[in-house]
Amino acid sequence: MKYSVKDIKMADSGKRKIEFAQEHMPVLMKIRERYKKELPLKGIRISACLHVTKETAVLVGTLRAGGAHVALCASNPLSTQDDVAAALAQDGFEVFAVRGATNEDYYKQLNATLDIAPHITLDDGADLINAIHTKRSELLKNVIGGQEETTTGVIRLRAMAKEGQLKYPVIAVNDTPTKHMFDNYYGTGASTLDGIMRATNILLAGKVFVVAGYGFCGKGVANRAQGMGAKVIVTEIDPVEALRAHMDGFSVMTMNEAAKLGDIFVTVTGCKDVLTPKHFELMKEGAILANSGHFDVEIDVKGLRIIAKKVELVRDNLEKYSLPNGRHIYLIGEGRLVNLAAAEGHSSEVMDLSFSDQALVSEHIVKNAKSFKPGVYEVPKDLDDWVAKLKLETLGADLEVLTPGQRKYLDSWQEGT
Ligand code: ADE
Repeated sequence: MKYSVKDIKMADSGKRKIEFAQEHMPVLMKIRERYKKELPLKGIRISACLHVTKETAVLVGTLRAGGAHVALCASNPLSTQDDVAAALAQDGFEVFAVRGATNEDYYKQLNATLDIAPHITLDDGADLINAIHTKRSELLKNVIGGQEETTTGVIRLRAMAKEGQLKYPVIAVNDTPTKHMFDNYYGTGASTLDGIMRATNILLAGKVFVVAGYGFCGKGVANRAQGMGAKVIVTEIDPVEALRAHMDGFSVMTMNEAAKLGDIFVTVTGCKDVLTPKHFELMKEGAILANSGHFDVEIDVKGLRIIAKKVELVRDNLEKYSLPNGRHIYLIGEGRLVNLAAAEGHSSEVMDLSFSDQALVSEHIVKNAKSFKPGVYEVPKDLDDWVAKLKLETLGADLEVLTPGQRKYLDSWQEGT
């Protein structure tokens, strides 16, 4: 079996982590039990470009239980958990992922994953879809559908579809409520702070914490930082979201203003050049910068390296930059996704929802392959509801049920004041 991992001897540690994740992903494990019996993915080849974590291991294990052949690579050079990759390789998966891969190796690994000629692609950031459309178009004939896990990826796919460039159907898993209302909000909120704490052990209470971007992820980060006692400032380009940030109790201002005030900065916008040299020059001594957006373009790290007089590694995942104005700023995880570069990504409990969606969407693609045309599709509502209901069950929370009279009331319009 083919694989490329850091050290296969790390497999035992990875296996224990995967088992721990399985215990915290009851919905996905329930799907796995059904898949084992029904084999809905029999004969299906799946290429997955996802963060190689213990949670992803539970997903690919479930897809395999359903009869799929899965090849996996990382969707970020710094997010791979090498012991998990080793455990997957030992368990017979085609896995091509090494933490800290160069750009060249990253694309070699991605291409190795595509060499299985997939029927389905699973993306977190649209890199597989991009490679198939631009460099490996010979693979298009086999593909019946794809899935996209993250906001940034979905934005790209919609742009491709708008220009008529998207050549196969893709389900926007990110956009379904059981994904973005939980993974983006609770997952990013908790794991971003986890990454900052692991890299710095800084006290958040009383600090000025600047969050750039107030989408679901930004809301989660701002809320959690406030919960830890930080004074939160939000920067935002969307007037409605900015107004929500204001009414949620946060200060709203431009980055030019916030740059002078912040102790900690987190970018989570999905856009590039959010923090640039003009902001670095304004920052206070000791300011800490982290990015929690998908790509490492939000903080202009190249620009920071150019202006810096000196760069030192202070500890794992923390660099200190000496600026020409005599001040110093700290950058976590090279400006890559802080929650995966400096911590372990979202917790298993929240990934249970996102990855249950992905597992079920794989089956949905197989069942409906003939009726789909190229384009971006939503996750069916009944699938989303089913995942939420099962999660509630595993949490011991009971749903209220409408009486026939209430159902009639909601379906009618005659009853008024
Ligand atoms: N994205 C964010 N957190 C993740 C995790 N734990 N596993 C896979 N993808 C993720």
